[in-house]
This record gives sequence, structure tokens and C-alpha cells, in this order.
Amino acid sequence: MRRPEALVLGALGTALAVVSAVGAADGPALKDLMPKGMLLGVAVSQGQVEEKDQAAVDLVTRHYDSITPENLLKWGPVHPEPDKYNFAPADTFVAFGEKRKMTLIGHTLVWHSQTPAWVFEGKDGKPLDRETALARMRDHINAVVGRYKGKIKGWDVVNEAINDDAEGTMRKSKWQQAIGDDYIAKAFEFAHAADPQAELYYNDYSLTNAPKRATAIRIVKDLKTRGLRVDGVGEQGHWLLGGPSLADIEATITDIAAAGVKVHITELDVDVLPRDPGMYGADLEKRAKFKAETNLYPDSLPPDKQAELARRYAEIFAIFLKHRDKIARVTFWGVDDGHSWLNGFPIPGRVNHPLLFDRQRKAKPAFDAVVETLSKK
Ligand code: XIL
Repeated sequence: MRRPEALVLGALGTALAVVSAVGAADGPALKDLMPKGMLLGVAVSQGQVEEKDQAAVDLVTRHYDSITPENLLKWGPVHPEPDKYNFAPADTFVAFGEKRKMTLIGHTLVWHSQTPAWVFEGKDGKPLDRETALARMRDHINAVVGRYKGKIKGWDVVNEAINDDAEGTMRKSKWQQAIGDDYIAKAFEFAHAADPQAELYYNDYSLTNAPKRATAIRIVKDLKTRGLRVDGVGEQGHWLLGGPSLADIEATITDIAAAGVKVHITELDVDVLPRDPGMYGADLEKRAKFKAETNLYPDSLPPDKQAELARRYAEIFAIFLKHRDKIARVTFWGVDDGHSWLNGFPIPGRVNHPLLFDRQRKAKPAFDAVVETLSKK
């Protein structure tokens, strides 16, 4: 829908609840409103970089100056078998970004998830030994980072290495089991060797929880003590309407920066549906019950919830602005609500509304709220 610029400007400063959605194609481009030096990114799918979905391509092109592949550079998709790499989708991702002069982020090299079983298999059915695990890790990182040397600006080298417990212990992943805690240092060493110019990040969720954050900072300090390159910490930013608190978000940013690295908000979205610890369990009956009880907005997000989401995003972006000197990038995890992974997580089959654009690719009040917040900077 066309909307004259005067109306858009007139909407600034109006109470969020009454600001109507700006036509995404005609309103301001979000990336142009970001403070200098802070990139605005978005996670893209294979279909999107193959330009199979023009509406999504238009939004990505207009509003963002950085892209992260949502899945196609993970170990499973890019290196499904020991001697088989599937680089075609990643090549397309790189070409898509280069054509638009975007900053490309690699996600992710070493993770416990979306990694094929063969990676963790030892010889003759024995547990995986340290040397084999390190050799596989090095070969993979060499091949993947090496191929995109000078093209992908920074890598989430290690993803989600820390538990959610009260001590922030190291996750006993198969990498950790085979190699030991220094698997993280090794991954950073291999990544740096493969592309000395590339930025290297440690990425995790819920660093807003103090124990987890403290461990992430210990990881950064350990890397630095070893003389290894580390440029940033990614807080995924999978947040909810009701939490984490703004104080915890702010502490995450200031604590990471105090450790001497940049903050990246790498996978931002705001879940509008209820969460419950039981949703993560294996009890299928329980999960079905949760799904039925918490799929609250199967048709559309009602105006009061739109306004709540808008307020939450405005508050979050106000914090990003306040700490603009510490944050290198803010990346949304998906282009529009229809594409969000939160339609399937923590339980499959719910209709979620966590992003700035709805299923029709229309800007939501949350988009206006972010525009308004950024325009006041
Ligand atoms: C998610 C993708 O969005 C989904 O499409 C996929 O099925 C599972 O992974 N933390 C991460 C991301 O680091 O890679 C995850 O992405 C979401 C949680």
C-alpha cells in the first residue's frame, strides 16, 4: 500500500498503539536508520537466496545490510557425508549477498545440533577419540571457511557450548566429550588459520542469565589468554514478551563489551506465545496438550498484543541505541512471521508472530515502533 512520506513522518511521536503499519516497501529502510557502525541483519533461507520468494527478497534487499544463512551453512546441510560437501546453496547465499553489497555472516562451524551422526562416530564402534574429532573439525573448518575466505566477514565459530544450569557448566556435547573443553579453543585456532581476516564469534542463547554469561566471558578470556583471535560474542536474542528483563539485556551488553569484544545480537525474535518447561520434554501427550492450550492466535495477532510486541521491540531497540558503541550488529532470525522457526519451537504446529513483518509480508506495529525508536536517536 502506498503511503505518502508526510504521513509516515506524522506518525513519528504518535503513541505506538495508534501508529498503523507503514507500507514496508514505501516506508523507511530500517538499515538506514541504524546508528553508524551497527549492521542490521536477517537470517535467510535457501529458497530466499534462490530468489524463489520475491516478496521476501524485496524485504531483505530493502531493510537489511547483513545476512546470515538460517540453515545452509550448518554442518549437516553443507557437509552431509565424510567426503561430500554441498556448497551450491552456500555459494548462492554468498552471491545473493555480494550482489547487494551485504555483510555476510557464517553460521555455524561447531555445534552439537544439526551435525550428522558420522561426525561423532569412532572407529569400529568405539567412542570418538580426540585426534579423530580434531581432524574432522579441522578439515571441515578448513574446507568451509577456506572456500569463503574474504567473502564471509565473520563466523559463529562455536554455538551453544554452555548449559542452562545455575553454574553455567560446559555442555557435555559430543565435541566436548571427545576433545575436552579446549575444543572451543581448537575451533577458533582452525578458523583463524583458514581465514586470518575473518572475525570470529562465540554464539549462545540466554546469556541474559548471569551464570551462563559469566561462562561465556570466561571462554572469551581463555581464548585471549591463549593468544587466539576472538572478535565478538553473539547473544542469540530469542526473547519473549515477558522476559528477559531489560536490565538483564543491558547487563549482557555491558558485560560482554567489558570483556573486550563486540556484542552481536544474532538471532533476534520475540515469542508472543506462552512457554512452559514441559514443552521441551519428550512427553508427547503433554506436548500435544500444551500445543492445544497455547496456540492462542492461530489467525492473527490481536491489536492489544500487536501493541505489546511493539512496545517490547521499542524498549529493546532503545537499549541497543544506548549501547551503540558496543554493538556491531543486530540480526533478526527470519524475514516474516510465516518463516519463523518459532512456529515449530518449542512445540511444532503453533502459529507464532515474533518478527516485524507478518505472514502477508506487511510491516506490523512492531516495525513502526522500531522505526520510531531509531528515528529518535
Ligand atoms: C534453527 C532454524 O531456524 C530452524 O529452521 C532449524 O530447523 C533449527 O535451527 N539457535 C541457533 C539457530 O543457533 O541455528 C537455530 O536455528 C535456532 C536456535
